[in-house]
Amino acid sequence: MSKKPFTRILGTGSALPDKVLTNAELEQIVETTDQWITERTGIKERRIVEPGTPLSGLAAKAARKALDDSGVSPEEIDLIILGTVTGDMKFPATACLVQDLIGAKNAVAFDLSAACSGFLYSLQVASGLMIASGYRKALVIGGEILTSMINWKDRDTCVLFGDGAGAAVLGVSDGERGLIHTHLGADGAHSKLLYNPGCGSLNPPTVENVQENLHTIRMAGREVFRHAVTAMSGAMQKVLDEAGIDADDLDLLIPHQANLRIIDAVAKRFSVPSEKVYVNVDRFGNTSAASIPIAIDEARKSGRIKEGDLVGLVTFGAGLTWASAIVRF
Ligand code: UT7
Repeated sequence: MSKKPFTRILGTGSALPDKVLTNAELEQIVETTDQWITERTGIKERRIVEPGTPLSGLAAKAARKALDDSGVSPEEIDLIILGTVTGDMKFPATACLVQDLIGAKNAVAFDLSAACSGFLYSLQVASGLMIASGYRKALVIGGEILTSMINWKDRDTCVLFGDGAGAAVLGVSDGERGLIHTHLGADGAHSKLLYNPGCGSLNPPTVENVQENLHTIRMAGREVFRHAVTAMSGAMQKVLDEAGIDADDLDLLIPHQANLRIIDAVAKRFSVPSEKVYVNVDRFGNTSAASIPIAIDEARKSGRIKEGDLVGLVTFGAGLTWASAIVRF
C-alpha cells in the first residue's frame, strides 16, 4: 500500500558543458566507429569540459537554476548533498565549495560517493535527514567531470562517458506530491567490475601509478551490462510493489542513461512503451550521477513530466550500487 510522501521536488536545474564530442571525432582519437558506438550504446555525442575544469562550477550552475525554478533562496537551504565521484579535490567536499559559490551559508554540506547511483542515493539520504533532523529545504545535486578520469586510449570506456550536473531542491511534501517509495541497494563483492584503482590510499598518485593509468576508469563492460539489467529491473519491481502500482500506471520511466540497450531491456521487462521512457543518452552519453537529474530537469522543462505525473526513476553503478524511486510530481 502506497505511503504518503514526506518530501517533494520543488524545482530542478541542469548544466552541461558547451563543447560537444561526436562519435566522428572519437574515430580520430581511438580505433572505433560511429556505427559501433551507435549500435552498441545508442550514444551519438557527449558534452565535455576543457581539461582542468572543476566540477564545483558546473554543480553550482545547476544548483542556481534549481533554486530559481523552485523560488527558494540560497539562505533557505539547510542541507546540500552532492553525489559525485569526481569532486574538485579529495577534500574538502565539493558540496562545501558549491555552498560557498551559491551563498547557501546556512546549509550543512557533504559529498556522497555512489557512482552512477549518486543522485538517487543523495535524494533518499536528504529525504531521510529532513525527516530525522527537521531540515525544511535541501539541495540535492548529481554531478561529474568523468573526462577527468578517462583514458583516451581505452576504446572500451572512453566512448561512453560525458560531463554534466543536475540538481533538485527538496522541500516538505503537501501530502500528495513527492517521493512515494525509494529503494537503495549495494553489492561490494563485484566492486572490481567497474572501478578507478588510483589516487586513493590503495594506489596513491605516484608518478609510476599515474604512468600506469591507475587514475582512470576500469570496466568489465559485458558483466556490468548483465548486472545493470538485473539490478535495475529488481529495484524497479521493488518500488512498484511497495507502492502497490503497476508499471502501466507510470506516466514516465527515467532510467540511468548508460546504454540504450540497457534502457530498452529494463523498459521491455516492465512492458513500458518507448514513448513513456526518457532517453537522452544519444546526446550526453553516460554522465554517471548527473544522468538522472539532468533527465528529470529536461523532462519537466519540455513538458514530458507534468504536474501530478507519476514517474519511475531507476539507476545502477559502480559499487555495485543501484537505486529506484517512485515520485509524484
Ligand atoms: O554507468 C554504470 C554502468 N555502466 C554500464 O552500464 C556500461 C555497461 N556495459 C555496456 O554498456 C557495454 O558492455 C559496452 C558498451 C561497454 C560494450 O558493449 P558490448 O556489446 O558488451 O561489447 P563487448 O565489450 O562485448 O565487446 C565486443 C567487441 C570486442 O571485440 P571482439 O573481442 O569481439 O573482437 C571489443 O574489443 O567490441 C570491441 N569494442 C569496440 N569496438 C569498436 C569495444 N569497444 C569498442 C569501441 N569501438 N569503442
